[in-house]
Amino acid sequence: MSLSELARTANISQPCGVRLVTLKHFMAEQLRKPSGWFGSVILRRLLNRMNMAIVESTLSRLRLEPYHQILEIGFGGGDAMALISRCLTTGVVSGVDFSPEMVREAERRFRREIANGRLRVQLGDIAALPFASATFDRVFTINTIYFWPDTVQGFGEIRRVLKSGGLAVIALRSRENMERISFTQHGFRLFSPPEVPLLMQQAGFTNVELTHERRGTRYDEVLVSGIA
Ligand SMILES: C[S@@+](CC[C@H](N)C(=O)[O-])C[C@H]1O[C@@H](n2cnc3c(N)ncnc32)[C@H](O)[C@@H]1O
Repeated sequence: MSLSELARTANISQPCGVRLVTLKHFMAEQLRKPSGWFGSVILRRLLNRMNMAIVESTLSRLRLEPYHQILEIGFGGGDAMALISRCLTTGVVSGVDFSPEMVREAERRFRREIANGRLRVQLGDIAALPFASATFDRVFTINTIYFWPDTVQGFGEIRRVLKSGGLAVIALRSRENMERISFTQHGFRLFSPPEVPLLMQQAGFTNVELTHERRGTRYDEVLVSGIA
């Protein structure tokens, strides 16, 4: 089932003929910040299913080592952290998300990994990451850049929490791809691929590289990496 089909099944009707507008706003807001039953039960699973391919591409680009300290920003359903945690020996994967529901679900799902010290999750915002400077070897985020309040400042926060020489990978879908989904008109900032490396460089990243795969398919993959 696609996101738009799913939205139609959600019981969020309104009187006065505003149903369709409300539905688009509802889906846009849920993708920005999943909440309530819909966010915890439905959207969390759907995000994991829809985004598995871009998660795998992002993880290969990160060149992870089992001893790395890794941060994911906006982990949503948490499948990326699940894959990483299985490959760690002394390393730790940390996740930060500003949705209390996503944090609560991750705490439930990853009870064992949290107890054995390989995984941590906490509430937090890209605008002010709750970590000391120079904490991580790798930082990544998938499908969240559309919602950052200030893109260059967000990249600045990522660079701050990375160790010198650490690697960041930002994954997103292109403006051209996202514009086909009507609810992205509501509160999403969309990017043409070449815009992102420029913003990352403005925040001080070096060796910035862009790839754009699966063009013309339903879900394309824009990956931008840079060194802190
Ligand atoms: C569209 S979902 C993507 C989830 C997951 N990364 C994926 O690709 O399946 C966006 C996620 O980012 C989180 N998010 C959005 N804006 C954020 C912000 N400013 N700070 C932290 N998390 C944020 C949301 O709560 C949500 O879990």
